[in-house]
Amino acid sequence: AAPLRLGLAGLGTVGIGVVRIVQRHAALIEARCDRPVVITAVSARDRTKNRDADLSAYAWETDPVALARRDDIDVFVEVMGGSEGPAKLATEAALAAGKDVVTANKALLAHHGQALAEAAEAKGLAIRFEAAVAGGIPVIKALTEGLAGNGMRRVMGVMNGTCNYILTRMESAGLPYDTVFEEARQLGYLEADPNLDVGGIDAGHKLSLLAAIAFGTRVSFDAVELEGIGAISIDDIRHAADLGFRIKLLGVAQMSGRGLEQRMTPCLVPMDSPLGQLQGGTNMVVLEGDAVGQIVLRGPGAGEGPTASAVMADVIDLARGLRLPTFGQRASRLAVPVAAKVATP
Ligand code: NAP
Ligand code: HSE
Repeated sequence: AAPLRLGLAGLGTVGIGVVRIVQRHAALIEARCDRPVVITAVSARDRTKNRDADLSAYAWETDPVALARRDDIDVFVEVMGGSEGPAKLATEAALAAGKDVVTANKALLAHHGQALAEAAEAKGLAIRFEAAVAGGIPVIKALTEGLAGNGMRRVMGVMNGTCNYILTRMESAGLPYDTVFEEARQLGYLEADPNLDVGGIDAGHKLSLLAAIAFGTRVSFDAVELEGIGAISIDDIRHAADLGFRIKLLGVAQMSGRGLEQRMTPCLVPMDSPLGQLQGGTNMVVLEGDAVGQIVLRGPGAGEGPTASAVMADVIDLARGLRLPTFGQRASRLAVPVAAKVATP
């Protein structure tokens, strides 16, 4: 069968992870899809940068919009980042040119997901974003496929690896903030603007995407109650530990009589609870459905391998011909949510 041809925009932590999986698992992927999956062309800002990967077989585009419009790609894989500018323009260009899109970019979808989903739908195209929420944990697939028969009651969890890494390392290793922050950078966890991580914004983006799928509403990131971890000191962490608690940046989305409640705030959780035991860059997402009850998903929430794993799962779905609606149902059917502002505990 004809290969599925990828145009890969972004050759950073995630992009190089995708290159490595495509190269390492070419035979395995071909067997699973009944067709090869190949990278045709790539894009990044600096062609001279040493990326510790063999990119010699791929065409190069410095402009991601040009990459998105190439005739020799079927799927545009966007792993550059940013809610505006090149990522948005290139994604729009890809859809206009009739390409399916796979993205790890939660910021883009939190701000423009509705318009992009409608644009994709109008052309019978797919936008897949497993990597955008909780890194390697297949939480989007769990919600849109595995739990599709449930009315969802609540979605909650720890969804930012950087914050969980910083909070747990400060406590367990007694290291200062600056040192653990640098460790998180080395592990490839940080956003290009780390304020998105420590400010709780990145996790808020993710929560808003999960809420849209779970409750059939348009993405409403602006209505997420947000508070980051910037004000938390080592003393706060120690005092919490003395009382048997840990501080976690915890997100909760649920429907109440007042509308859709979404909050992402630092919370105290018992040390011996599953959430309290969550170390390093690990994420945990708890999904509660009316038929299934509670499902707990736990795994690596950031970094090269886990995130590329999720990107490739979406690519493989497309190679298999699986084109699900972006947020689990027709974009035009998504309800405008009544946003219930909730008090921060
Ligand atoms: P990164 O390491 O900073 O890589 C970004 C890549 O995009 C770089 O190769 C960069 O080119 C390229 N790029 C940026 N602006 C560009 C432009 N204007 N034109 C062309 N290329 C451009 O970022 P990352 O960590 O891989 O993250 C990429 C995306 O995945 C983001 O949306 C992020 O939120 C998401 N994500 C990341 C993780 C993670 O753990 N890192 C997990 C889940 C989702 P140069 O290399 O030439 O500078
Ligand atoms: N910066 C994000 C995090 C990457 O630390 O969780 C994964 O989305």
